[in-house]
Formats: sequence, structure tokens, C-alpha cells
Amino acid sequence: MIEIRNVKKEYRSGEKSFFALNGVSLEIGEGEFVAITGKSGSGKSTLLNMIGTLDTVTEGNIFVDGQDIAHFTGKQIAEFRNRTVGFVFQSFYLEPSYTVYDNVELPLVLSGSVGKKNRERVEGALKAVNLSEKITEKARNLSGGEQQRVAIARAIVNNPAYILADEPCGNLDSANSENIMRILKELHAAGKTIVMVTHDPEDAQKAERIVTMSDGKVANDTKRMLDEIEAKSA
Ligand SMILES: Nc1ncnc2c1ncn2[C@@H]1O[C@H](COP(=O)(O)OP(=O)(O)OP(=O)(O)O)[C@@H](O)[C@H]1O
Ligand SMILES: [Mg+2]
Repeated sequence: MIEIRNVKKEYRSGEKSFFALNGVSLEIGEGEFVAITGKSGSGKSTLLNMIGTLDTVTEGNIFVDGQDIAHFTGKQIAEFRNRTVGFVFQSFYLEPSYTVYDNVELPLVLSGSVGKKNRERVEGALKAVNLSEKITEKARNLSGGEQQRVAIARAIVNNPAYILADEPCGNLDSANSENIMRILKELHAAGKTIVMVTHDPEDAQKAERIVTMSDGKVANDTKRMLDEIEAKSA
């Protein structure tokens, strides 16, 4: 469970001060699929980055599974990023000269895991994104949609409870976007908690909850029943 309590993020330059987040409170339960949407500059990425400890809060608290992540030590942060959350970004961030296998294995290596069990886990993650046949290919030779699927495999290889995705379909055409959204829905069905930032209303509609940000605040928070979503997309 993610509990965001009155979080503010202030950016200062000289005399000027700007609040990218201006008092955000939000609870995200285990197993939810939440889309965070809103205009450019409304604070979506800032919020997601804070949940993932990629950015620090100026004020307020964020608890993940009861732990105050804002006050984590360096070691706790590394562990949290590696095991508790999996990140997916708009621009995949793969290592282009590495093979698909090596890209997906990286989080395992970083967490000190070596040996035969890594191969099983990498293969499992690649199977989940339907990319088993590219395992020995260099990342740079893959299409955009394939690269994003590798990035998702890398995000799930350590079996994190939370998937944080910032515009995961932002660089993809509609067929590839649909594919990525389907994979996220499958991960959700498998029990993952998913927080996805998107400016695309159609992608947001695939989530069971839509949080709309405006000027660093939550302007709207709508939960829907999954059967209602299924009925609409049928
Ligand atoms: N390091 C920084 N220094 C100063 N201002 C920043 C910094 N990072 C973000 N901001 C500002 O904070 C606000 C929120 O940025 P954020 O990236 O969260 O927006 P966003 O909702 O994700 O927008 P987009 O849809 O364009 O990605 C913006 O006005 C941005 O310019
Ligand atoms: Mg953003």
C-alpha cells in the first residue's frame, strides 16, 4: 500500500520558488491499477518519481508498505528501487550494446544474484512480455515496441510488488501501445500494483482508477469497477 500524505515539492532558483507538488494526499491500495493523468507540468512525473525514491519530498510523507521512504538511508533506497518497485519509462533506458538477456538480468546482478537461477528468472520475465525469441539480440537492434517490452521484463524480473510507469506508450505507435497496455493489464491481473502516468485518455481508461493532477494537486480521483471497464471495451 502506498500512502501519500500532504506531499509538497518546491523548486527554488534564486529568489523564485515554485511548487511542482502543492499538497498531494493519495492512498493506493495493494493490487490497484491507477492512471495518473493531467496537463503537462501538472506534477505527474514528480509524484511518480517520489513514490519511486528517484526524487525527494520537500514536505509531507510517503509510506510504502508502512515504511517512510522519504527517510530511507542510501542502502535502503538501493534495495527499495531494486526489489520493491519496477520502473518503466517513456524512453526505455536500455543499454543498447548489451543483449536483451543482459539488460533484463541487470537488476538481478545489482542485487547480488548470480548463477543459474538468474537465467530462469530472465526467461520467465521475457516470456511474460512475449519476447523469448530475442533473448540473444542486442537491444539496439530491436524495434521501439520490443525495447519497451524488454524494459518491462527488466522491471518485473525481481518480482516487485509495484510497477511505476511514466508514459510507457509515449514513444510508441498505437499497435505497440495496445500491446504494452495489455501486458500492464496482465501484470495487474497477476496481482501487481500499477501506477501509470499517461496523458492519453484512452490508455487512462484501461485503469480501474484515474487520478487527475492539476497545478501540483489532485483535482479528481475516480474509481471504477473493473466489469464496467470490460463492458465498455467489449
Ligand atoms: N528540477 C526541476 N527544477 C525546476 N522545476 C522543475 C524541475 N523538475 C520539474 N520542474 C517543474 O515542475 C513542474 C512539474 O513537472 P513534471 O515533470 O512533474 O510534470 P508532468 O505533469 O510530468 O508533465 P509532462 O506531461 O510534460 O511530462 C513543471 O512545471 C516543471 O517545469
Ligand atoms: Mg512527465
